[in-house]
Amino acid sequence: MFGRRTAPVEAPATAKSSAAVKKPAPAAPKPAPKPAPKKAKAETKSATQAPPRVVKPAAQKPSEQVEIGGRSDEYFHTKTTIFNALIDTIDLSQLAQLDTEAAAEEIRDIVNEIISIKNVQMSIAEQESLLQDICNDVLGYGPLEPLLARDDIADIMVNGSSRVFIEVGGKIQLTNVRFRDNAQLMNICQRIVSQVGRRVDEASPICDARLPDGSRVNVIAPPLSIDGAALTIRKFKKDKLRIEDLVNFGSISPEGAKVLEIIGHCRINTLISGGTGSGKTTLLNCLTGFIEHDERIITCEDAAELQLQQPHVVRLETRPPNLEGQGEVTMRDLVKNCLRMRPERIIVGEVRGPEAFDLLQAMNTGHDGSMGTLHANSPREALQRVESMITMGGYNLPSKTIKEMIVGSIDVVVQAARLRDGSRRITHVTEVLGTEGDTIITQDLFVYDMDGEDVDGKIIGKHKSTGIARPAFWDRARYYGKEAELASALDAAAE
Ligand SMILES: Nc1ncnc2c1ncn2[C@@H]1O[C@H](COP(=O)(O)OP(=O)(O)OP(=O)(O)O)[C@@H](O)[C@H]1O
Ligand SMILES: [Mg+2]
Repeated sequence: MFGRRTAPVEAPATAKSSAAVKKPAPAAPKPAPKPAPKKAKAETKSATQAPPRVVKPAAQKPSEQVEIGGRSDEYFHTKTTIFNALIDTIDLSQLAQLDTEAAAEEIRDIVNEIISIKNVQMSIAEQESLLQDICNDVLGYGPLEPLLARDDIADIMVNGSSRVFIEVGGKIQLTNVRFRDNAQLMNICQRIVSQVGRRVDEASPICDARLPDGSRVNVIAPPLSIDGAALTIRKFKKDKLRIEDLVNFGSISPEGAKVLEIIGHCRINTLISGGTGSGKTTLLNCLTGFIEHDERIITCEDAAELQLQQPHVVRLETRPPNLEGQGEVTMRDLVKNCLRMRPERIIVGEVRGPEAFDLLQAMNTGHDGSMGTLHANSPREALQRVESMITMGGYNLPSKTIKEMIVGSIDVVVQAARLRDGSRRITHVTEVLGTEGDTIITQDLFVYDMDGEDVDGKIIGKHKSTGIARPAFWDRARYYGKEAELASALDAAAE
């Protein structure tokens, strides 16, 4: 059969080579059948039926684990045995030449044969899910596949082969998903990064990549990560959240959303600040939705995540250095180059270094309405970070000059936060007004006021306008004919 090894390889204790597959009965080792896995049904998510799990001492209790596919230890054992037999039977290099469907068909045939040779007792449904798992292992991302298929998962975090966490609804949960061993995990990391022409190994143990669906991936391999490779995936959401969704989730009030719409539309230079996973990119994506369709927009990102709907968009992505340490294109290179591309707006996915200087320059040299995100815990801290990024970028400018530059460029800082109940909120919409001596003066237009938490631990609070009736961007709103909308949104929020 195509894909099978022509010369049988050394057979492991439990498996037989291709010859064994072809001549079933006599070659089967100890026929003692493995008891059928009891919980192999695909997508059985019942936590109550799951048998006790072996958990490392430091792990969460089994009851806190999320069951993905309800796999038992027995199931993993049977799968490993059959998988090993399969690997000894097929020739992976030939298999790689087949298209996915043909390869899956081939694997199915062989696995079915192995199951019958080994006399493994399984129901049709159990056999089906085993086949699916093995196809995933050989052709796809193995145990990650069921997680990647779910759209409600925001992040997948793999800490070595036996600890896989997911973030759902803002909460991090331990799952029962695990890899056969660290080698399988490394293999899958390798498979992911090789798709974008990169390699991860001891010599280059850190790697960023992207899945074909756009999900952002980071791998850090041993020896840097001590307990096996650490793999982090920010899942790409097919249906990006829109500002209406943020209003429905209570992330922002309807009036606050209206003000954000005006900010996006009226070409107000905006910085979105927030902690990791607080929803900065999502918010930036929403804000870009208010840009007019006739504007030329250039986006610069480390991994393209933004989904702009306008027709006139140029998307740029940074490039890491190759294995020889050459060919790197930094965010700064991109932002500088943007300025020669006649942009009307420049959108920087994440500002984290000296490109802050170039972005500020762009903002106050006629590219109004430029935007970017950065990691900071408050609007004030965000401005301080911009200053320190510029200082650390080697610009020998006095602090006062940098502050004046910041004030002259950034109009508004929008702060996003992930609260302790897992919900994401826009906590501040803050204007940058000017400098007083050595201090940057800001004024909050909207803040999220927390009132405590309810019986389920959900945070109760309210978005409030601070009573500012005429924000500093009032004239600009008037220029774009939006002052009436702005006034009514601020009035409504003040009530
Ligand atoms: N307001 C919200 N309500 C619910 N979920 C949200 C909200 N905003 C973002 N999310 C979800 O949270 C996850 C993280 O969002 P996002 O990528 O925007 O965060 P980020 O701050 O840019 O993260 P990073 O710091 O890693 O770049 C995504 O899955 C996104 O769909
Ligand atoms: Mg982001």
